[in-house]
Amino acid sequence: MIKKDLHSVTAFAPASSANFFVGFDILGFPFSELGDEVTLIKNEVGELRIIEIENDPGLPFDVSKNTAGDALQRMLAYLKLNSGFDIKIKKGIPVCSGLGGSAASSVAAVSALNAFLEAPLAREELASFAMEAEYLASGEAHADNVVPSLWGEFTLVQSLMPLCVATLPMPDLYSVLIHPDWQISTQSARQALSSTLTIKQHIQQSANLAKLVVDVFNKDWQGLSASAIDSLVEPQRAALLPGFYEYQQAALEQGALACSFSGAGPTMIALTETAEMAQSVADAMQQQMAKRDMQSQYWYKQMKRGGATIVKEERR
Ligand code: HSE
Repeated sequence: MIKKDLHSVTAFAPASSANFFVGFDILGFPFSELGDEVTLIKNEVGELRIIEIENDPGLPFDVSKNTAGDALQRMLAYLKLNSGFDIKIKKGIPVCSGLGGSAASSVAAVSALNAFLEAPLAREELASFAMEAEYLASGEAHADNVVPSLWGEFTLVQSLMPLCVATLPMPDLYSVLIHPDWQISTQSARQALSSTLTIKQHIQQSANLAKLVVDVFNKDWQGLSASAIDSLVEPQRAALLPGFYEYQQAALEQGALACSFSGAGPTMIALTETAEMAQSVADAMQQQMAKRDMQSQYWYKQMKRGGATIVKEERR
């Protein structure tokens, strides 16, 4: 049942950085400096309509082609509701950036619809609608952006069906996210990956992932620096961003503990122990990108919790 007196709800969902070096499709954390807002306004026509997309006119207005619209359609079908809503999407996350923009829009959308319900759904149920919508962006369902954006935690997704999530302590580190003016679609970044791996690659990657989780619990940042080395996915994707290894090298030379793609890229993530070091890593990476005439913008912040929230409700 939809709350009768509620007319519109606006929800915010943060950007997220997926993979965390060696946790391909498994690890992710929220980055609430950036995020998308979705407003749902009850309409009388009984239909879902996207009426406004702010900051990204290239995104589809067709509800079934837009991750926010698709997630809402799935949720309404599950609830057997034929209520109509006008949808306004305000993008705060650059498209195809590796910052979980498609997930943030669908997470904000299902969070807003949930606020209309007399009996709200659990976050695991909301995640399933948003996760399915990821097919539109990447051709596959994965939850390593949806879950951290919704939970607001550093999360490890063990399985999708049933959704099984573990929460890790938030590292007391700074994350630098540097976004070059370059686009890589998640779909093409996934297509760049071989569908097979050798047992040797499996051993190396799973050893690093297991050790990284231990390092996070032990707050062993030098240990993490040695375990956050992706020998599986990064080498297959590096060529998608001209100069990738130069930017990575620049970050490591400035003392970054680790540096790689954020999610499917092209945004790169680096970790540092202090804000000062984060600034010098960001500067060095930006200068290196400029040498290739690659414009960029960056953000850095202490890693912290913070997931999807309701920012406004209007009653009538
Ligand atoms: N784990 C996904 C990938 C994240 O790297 O393809 C996409 O943002």
